[in-house]
Amino acid sequence: MVSKGPLLRLLTAINRRRMKLLMGLAFVAYVASVWGNFVNMRSLQENGDQKVESKIEEAVAPLREKIKDLEKSFTQKYPPVKFLSEKDRKRILITGGAGFVGSHLTDKLMMDGHEVTVVDNFFTGRKRNVEHWIGHENFELINHDVVEPLYIEVDQIYHLASPASPPNYMYNPIKTLKTNTIGTLNMLGLAKRVGARLLLASTSEVYGDPEVHPQNEDYWGHVNPIGPRACYDEGKRVAETMCYAYMKQEGVEVRVARIFNTFGPRMHMNDGRVVSNFILQALQGEPLTVYGPGTQTRAFQYVSDLVNGLVALMNSNVSSPVNLGNPEEHTILEFAQLIKKLVGSGSEIQFLSEAQDDPQKRKPDIRKAKLLLGWEPVVPLEEGLNKAIHYFRKELEYQANNQYIPKPKPARMKKGRTRHN
Ligand SMILES: NC(=O)c1ccc[n+]([C@@H]2O[C@H](COP(=O)([O-])OP(=O)(O)OC[C@H]3O[C@@H](n4cnc5c(N)ncnc54)[C@H](O)[C@@H]3O)[C@@H](O)[C@H]2O)c1
Repeated sequence: MVSKGPLLRLLTAINRRRMKLLMGLAFVAYVASVWGNFVNMRSLQENGDQKVESKIEEAVAPLREKIKDLEKSFTQKYPPVKFLSEKDRKRILITGGAGFVGSHLTDKLMMDGHEVTVVDNFFTGRKRNVEHWIGHENFELINHDVVEPLYIEVDQIYHLASPASPPNYMYNPIKTLKTNTIGTLNMLGLAKRVGARLLLASTSEVYGDPEVHPQNEDYWGHVNPIGPRACYDEGKRVAETMCYAYMKQEGVEVRVARIFNTFGPRMHMNDGRVVSNFILQALQGEPLTVYGPGTQTRAFQYVSDLVNGLVALMNSNVSSPVNLGNPEEHTILEFAQLIKKLVGSGSEIQFLSEAQDDPQKRKPDIRKAKLLLGWEPVVPLEEGLNKAIHYFRKELEYQANNQYIPKPKPARMKKGRTRHN
């Protein structure tokens, strides 16, 4: 019999070595696999990181643009503004300052170096009209309805808040009345409280359908108190009455401007008056509609002339009403031909039958303004029309991009007919 002792010992020794070797190999394999996983995870993580980074970049890019815009707005160039000393600089409130006339008045007073607060409920006004001043240290814009009281410290108040064109003031006659009555009372109350001077933007409409031509300030007017225009005409008449009651009873300094037809950039597209109607029709290649033979006359002042007149009146010592308008009359047909020529339009002039209550003549007597304020209109009609046409062209482009092109609306309907305003 062969002894198993040394053989077993030999085999055991070989197995141990194998085991060690195998265990060594297993350890190396384990380390290699751990390392492989680690490397894989690293590359996955790197890919993930890249994705996250690109997502963050996507989110941040528009923010970066916004910051750039904000930076631009901080360094925005405002129109040039004069420097006024503390003594000469006034705190001025313009109600209706985001409207057509109010925004031009804002420009003038800001450029003259005053501190201007615009108060507007944006019924017919637009932020766009005064946006070039937003952020300026002398400018403030307040969204407020003058039918509610306002508490603010000011030296002068230009009270313009009121819709002015027939489609706008006839849209809500009760609101028009409230604005012109309660709104005016509120502003006069404010003027009394802070000792400010108030200028009321009144209108030639206080003369109604006049029996005298041209109309001077002593004419008391011919107004139908229950007609479709009464909310505006009578609203302005009672607003004038309120001014003089506050002047006599409370010693408030008042100025009353009776404004005649005015035109220029920033006027309403659906103003309904002959100038804007003709410009819109000519620009859109539509016939220029003339009611009757076109021999009726109208007189229009350019907006910068009016603004100069308002400022001259405010700073004068004339407390009685003053007409501000351009007495240069033109026939409706002349307006149509001139606008067609200036626009370069191929539109035809279409004669429609005469409207029943179309006044034959409208013309201000401005002798008082000339004598007491040294004021008269200076902007030639063609120059003013060219500026208005340029503005309307741009507006049409702007509104076309927004899919909205207003058509001129009839300014006033009587027995189903339109009239020239
Ligand atoms: N444009 C003209 O031909 C003309 C002629 C005569 C008189 N006016 C008078 O001049 C002033 C300005 O006229 P416009 O042509 O600039 O008109 P507009 O409609 O462009 O401006 C009037 C402004 O008053 C604001 N407003 C209206 N009701 C308000 C309220 N309750 N509270 C606060 N804001 C209010 C409107 O939003 C608008 O910004 C008006 O009082 C108008 O009666 C104008």
